[in-house]
Amino acid sequence: MNPLLSRLQPYPFERLRQLFAGITPNPALRPISLGIGEPKHPTPAFIKQALAAAMEMPGSDLAGYPPTAGTPQLREACAAWLQRRYGLQVDAATQVLPVNGSREALFAFAQTVIDPTRPAVVVCPNPFYQIYEGAALLAGAEPFYAPSDPARNFAVDWDSVPEATWAKTQLLYVCSPGNPTGAVMPLDEWRKLFALQDRHGFIIASDECYSEIYFRDEPPLGGLEAAAKLGRQDFRGLVAFTSLSKRSNVPGMRSGFVAGDAQVLRQFLLYRTYHGSAMSPIVQHASAVAWSDEQHVVDNREQYRRKFAQVAPLLEQVLDVRLPDASFYLWAGVRGSDTAFARDLLAQYNVTVLPGSYLAREAGGFNPGAGRVRMALVADTAECLEAAQRIVQFVQSRP
Ligand SMILES: Cc1ncc(COP(=O)(O)O)c(C=O)c1O
Repeated sequence: MNPLLSRLQPYPFERLRQLFAGITPNPALRPISLGIGEPKHPTPAFIKQALAAAMEMPGSDLAGYPPTAGTPQLREACAAWLQRRYGLQVDAATQVLPVNGSREALFAFAQTVIDPTRPAVVVCPNPFYQIYEGAALLAGAEPFYAPSDPARNFAVDWDSVPEATWAKTQLLYVCSPGNPTGAVMPLDEWRKLFALQDRHGFIIASDECYSEIYFRDEPPLGGLEAAAKLGRQDFRGLVAFTSLSKRSNVPGMRSGFVAGDAQVLRQFLLYRTYHGSAMSPIVQHASAVAWSDEQHVVDNREQYRRKFAQVAPLLEQVLDVRLPDASFYLWAGVRGSDTAFARDLLAQYNVTVLPGSYLAREAGGFNPGAGRVRMALVADTAECLEAAQRIVQFVQSRP
């Protein structure tokens, strides 16, 4: 067996199951979960219809192997979206690749770019999406966790990474909008990271799967957009990961794309060809249709905005929480143990939330997720409101 497998950490939901073992949730109340960050708004009908229609289309039937690089139609649709969304000029032939959801791509990317024969560090935010850590470990690298700072809207404290660590860094994961914090990285932070990149030569993987769910007027700045604004039109050393899962409510379709540095993507395509991760032609067709429509994304964002506008003020009365820049999470301070909060809340009010310490690692003597919980407002507004009301009662009843 690959000995590196034993270094993988249990997934947060596994730890949650252990935390909840032996608890009987209050049977008088129906269960509500704010635990899993999985979209629950319905999939738009036109995307389902595109999937069905693709079965009958010449060139997208099931009787042939699809190209790993994707169809020109899908790549063009992705490039056109990047143009509309960020004003970017991207070459669809060399700077875009379809992926089967951003998760597999974030993982596979580390396997492509890490050279384990040299000292290898992968820097990632803390708290973070656990795939970054597993990807780093299985690529033979050491993760380094840079804490997010609650005093600065949860911006990651990149200055806390020692220069000697940057010198060994081969890959940096950034996540903007962040999971679980919802924080969007401003241009100045990108400027700082690009300067570090120029000094040390690492590659940046920019995870942007929540980019279309935002609460400010300004849409979140994208990594490639930041690069273009700072005169890096070739996107050197930078690859952005984006996804239809949250944008279009199709997590089950497994569809996203990566875009950026053409040389890096050429190597990524080589890796993916061996890995066998071509996207089904049916999904490729429906994905091109989904990327080409924006109205359903506007409607989806509006649903989240209305929901958050109702739920956040309730919780603000009793928890240290506020509307995030973006994403569908509330990242709330609970003034005490996050695990005890989650356990007691389930027992007394049958509401599941995720302890923040499970989404972060202890580093530099503290766990930046401790004392916080993540609440995914993915269910419909009525259910999220009921959960919030129960949480208010719960907090008010605590000693
Ligand atoms: C931060 C982050 N990145 C990537 C993903 C992966 O999403 P998908 O594989 O559906 O594109 C998720 C899913 O929850 C996520 O939270």
